[in-house]
Amino acid sequence: MAEENKNIQAPASKPSAAGKPKPPAAKPSAPGASKPAAAKSGAPAKVKPAAAKQDAGKKGVYKPPVQRAEANPFKDTKTGAVAGWLEERFAVLIPVIAYLRKKEVPKHRLSFWYYFGGLAMFFFMIQILTGLLLMLYYRPTEAEAFARFVYIQTEVPFGWLIRQVHAWSANLMVLMAFIHMFSTFFMKAYRKPRELMWVSGFILLVLTLGFGFTGYLLPWNELAYFATQIGTEVPKVAPGGEFIVRLLRGGEEVGGETLTRMFAMHVILLPGLVMLFLSAHLMLVQVLGTSSPIGYKEAGLIKGYEKFFPNFLAKDGIAWLIGFALLIYLAVMFPWETGEKVDMLAAAPDGIKPEWYFWAQFQLLKDLKFEGGELLAIVILTVGAIIWILVPFMDRKASREERSPLFTIFGLLVLAFLLIGTFRVYLEYGW
Ligand code: HEM
Repeated sequence: MAEENKNIQAPASKPSAAGKPKPPAAKPSAPGASKPAAAKSGAPAKVKPAAAKQDAGKKGVYKPPVQRAEANPFKDTKTGAVAGWLEERFAVLIPVIAYLRKKEVPKHRLSFWYYFGGLAMFFFMIQILTGLLLMLYYRPTEAEAFARFVYIQTEVPFGWLIRQVHAWSANLMVLMAFIHMFSTFFMKAYRKPRELMWVSGFILLVLTLGFGFTGYLLPWNELAYFATQIGTEVPKVAPGGEFIVRLLRGGEEVGGETLTRMFAMHVILLPGLVMLFLSAHLMLVQVLGTSSPIGYKEAGLIKGYEKFFPNFLAKDGIAWLIGFALLIYLAVMFPWETGEKVDMLAAAPDGIKPEWYFWAQFQLLKDLKFEGGELLAIVILTVGAIIWILVPFMDRKASREERSPLFTIFGLLVLAFLLIGTFRVYLEYGW
């Protein structure tokens, strides 16, 4: 502590060569002015408070030695011009960068699963970029939406590619978020102190599904229109559901108002919320570091640790390149259809279904087709989601670094519900 204080005093009151402090004249010296030997050598210069008191006392008023930070502590640093310039302005971040350099990722036979969170983030970045390009030509009105959508596909140079990449990247982002969620679940990465990573992650998944739901209507084609009609109808049976339906639709029926609302949510509300929760999620990842599966350390199954920066980040980059290659392949080889323009007076065509990531919920609604069944389905799904988000707080065993097979079984049941429901819709309706 004493040593610390000495160091603080050093640059403040630059003593004269004779060791006498020059009281308030300890202004920051002009650039280039010669420094006293002690300060130059970096040795802590001692100020004699008693002498200072005596000196000041002569003038009648006691003035403590001024303690002021060095005006430019970087003037002797040896970094390059650009790095030095940035360092001077962002000095406060230097410990953060040093921390990131120290962060390590454990290496074990399940390390492969650590790449999926980064992949979800990569596809989200693609969405922002391609969405911005699509917005240059799209118009969210009943009269123009479909025509503009066709125009992007057929007239705008590379418009078709941007639209296909946007549509495929949305699906891949959802898929990666699901894989990431179940991998962190089965590795029990949600356990103390990572509960809020789980909660923020789950909110991110809900927001990601919201992107899919709101984006589906934007082409304003027949399929989108009738699927949104069915999707926005669901809350109706729940208490207060009428209000939610009107809020989503902007009226009694799906129409131009709904399109404008979906567009506003898709391009402003949801991206803003995702940015917010993603920042919190990533900050927690950096602060708390990456977890290892329960018991791996004790059983000697950790093969070592690798630096997050640059080693793991470089591997993340390779995963992103593979993801990008897959994305382009899918966009070019399996383009999504343009469909027919909405005819709001026509009857709904057969086989209307939501996007694949809502199929399990859709199947449950179909299975419970009795009086009050829809409400029951909504209750099951809502209670299920609440339990799912609270898992880190309920799994006390995992928090004590003990295995928790009951929760593993619960996770397997949830996974089975999603996979079986999805597969049943596929069998009935096809892709
Ligand atoms: C848009 C969606 C998401 C993005 C972009 C995202 C991003 C990330 C990233 C980059 C990591 C660090 C690397 C890794 O472990 O994969 C991570 C870790 C984590 N995420 Fe997510 N995530 C998302 C959704 C979710 C969801 C849905 C959950 C669970 C409900 C979740 C829970 C976690 C947990 C618990 C960790 C810590 C893993 C560990 O320490 O081993 N995330 N996330």
